[in-house]
Amino acid sequence: MVLISTHETRAFLFSTLLIAQLFWMARADVHFYDFILKETKVTKLCETKSIMTVNDSFPGPTIKVHKGDTVYVNVNNRGDYGVTLHWHGVKQPRNPWSDGPEFITQCAIMPGTNFTYEVIFSDEEGTLWWHAHSSWTRATVHGAIVISPESGKSYPFSEPDDDKVIMIAAWYMGDLKELVDEAMIEGKDLPHSDGYTINGELGDFCNCSQVTTHGWYVDYGKTYLLRIVNAVVNAELFFAIADHNLTVVGMDGGYVKPIVTTCIMISPGQTMDVLLTANQPLGRYYIATRQYSSEDAEVTGFDHSIGSAILQYRGNYSLPSPPVFPNATLPLYLDFGAALRFTNQLRSLASEDHPVDVPGDVSTKMFITVSMGEIYCPNSSCTSVSGNKLGSSLNNVSWVNPSLDVLSAYYRNLSGSYTADFPDWPPSMYNFTGDDLPDSVDMTYQGTKVKVLNYNETVEIVFQGTNVLKSSMNHPMHVHGHNFYVVGTGHGNFDSKMDPRTYNLVDPPHVNTFGVPKNGWLAIRFTANNPGVWFWHCHLDRHMSWGMDMAFIVKDGGTLETSLRPPPAYMPPCMDMGSYDISMQTSSIDHVEMQQL
Ligand code: C2O
Ligand code: CU
Repeated sequence: MVLISTHETRAFLFSTLLIAQLFWMARADVHFYDFILKETKVTKLCETKSIMTVNDSFPGPTIKVHKGDTVYVNVNNRGDYGVTLHWHGVKQPRNPWSDGPEFITQCAIMPGTNFTYEVIFSDEEGTLWWHAHSSWTRATVHGAIVISPESGKSYPFSEPDDDKVIMIAAWYMGDLKELVDEAMIEGKDLPHSDGYTINGELGDFCNCSQVTTHGWYVDYGKTYLLRIVNAVVNAELFFAIADHNLTVVGMDGGYVKPIVTTCIMISPGQTMDVLLTANQPLGRYYIATRQYSSEDAEVTGFDHSIGSAILQYRGNYSLPSPPVFPNATLPLYLDFGAALRFTNQLRSLASEDHPVDVPGDVSTKMFITVSMGEIYCPNSSCTSVSGNKLGSSLNNVSWVNPSLDVLSAYYRNLSGSYTADFPDWPPSMYNFTGDDLPDSVDMTYQGTKVKVLNYNETVEIVFQGTNVLKSSMNHPMHVHGHNFYVVGTGHGNFDSKMDPRTYNLVDPPHVNTFGVPKNGWLAIRFTANNPGVWFWHCHLDRHMSWGMDMAFIVKDGGTLETSLRPPPAYMPPCMDMGSYDISMQTSSIDHVEMQQL
């Protein structure tokens, strides 16, 4: 054994650390982005108006990383109102401070101020996206996130020749913020969009839009990786490209077993990676999308427009005119069967390189009704038909935003922001999907209730859709900070004896957003291994605004690596903090419990 002096030991340790750090840096890169939020004038549908954008672009800039990288995004708000940003599908291990939902993990970045997000990538690979997470600002403030395999690693399919981001968004005429704020105060219906954009353009089938239709040029024989994002505020979409097959290979930042199809159904929040081989006669083909409406057929007040772009082959040939439309393959609005046929095929890749880890034993079970309903207005003071306000709920609780974000309240042990009593069951059991439900099930109650989970708890949630107010429809439920496995889904009321026997524990899709089917149920499982506060909500903003939301607190696991990180030096301040300081002095039982946990 060789004895070395302390000095030599230190030098040795230092150089080892340096090498380790260099090695680490070679594997995981750090990127910096500047996002300037501001109002930008845009003309669409013959109307010029001002929209909030990032760096003057709609959609906003694409963030490009490799698996495991970290990104710092410095947001400078030069707009007229407060905004927060969210990195949809990025798990942000131990770092909810940079997750973004307003009143859940932070308060808004006010005009004239900055905030730097630290976006930590871990196991995500494929396509995700970022968007504003305050009011409905995400309508125009969003962009794609492209996550390539680690350097030296490849895709689980043959390398495409090129890739292409397809961001689908909704366009609203008028001042959307004003319309939403007003509707929320009056308790009336929230706005419906006036068109769907593909990479910022509405396309040939909309007024005043033909000259600007988005064009995509392809070479015959090449294979492209399409990264499709549904950034639409309130609509699930069918999507097809005339005469071309789509091979779905990824979803929500993970891989799936390839599905060859002529159309996909994609919910708001979801992302899909799709291979397309340009193997058709040289010409022009429409890329087209329209809403999949799962509401009652009598509900016709939705955006019926077609969003389109054009795939055009390069080369010397005479252009057939007009381009071919996917008449036979793009389903109609109410085609429930087409939507199910597609979503039922989704399976995780579950390969050696991309394994699954589905919890077999479950330590926490929840049964959550996902429902529309009404919130009582004293003396029929609201303007809707019944005199009450529309409310959406989870287990009959309609989420109310606190004025101090849940994360700060939790971290600093302040009471008054939320209560830790989100129920594991609905208040009553009834025939959830029945046709003529009694009025007694309509009423929901407002609250800011969170569910507290121990670190590493294995959770199963069965979401049960309801037909309350005859308004059953598909609800794309989204979780922050985790992905979940979709272990089962079905029509009607969940049968706790029979249905679990049909669960797929072998290769269920591993996603961050998935639909609770109209008048049906969805069973999911996940491991709560990310300490922090994480929002759960329907990704249709109309339902989110009406309260179809809740949050999880995942407690620390007892070691540094399993504990919430301390907050960054600066977080945007919350308004109206006075009341919280008072309640800190008069801490409740709840509060003491929280401290002990
Ligand atoms: Cu896409 Cu709570 O978000
Ligand atoms: Cu919903």
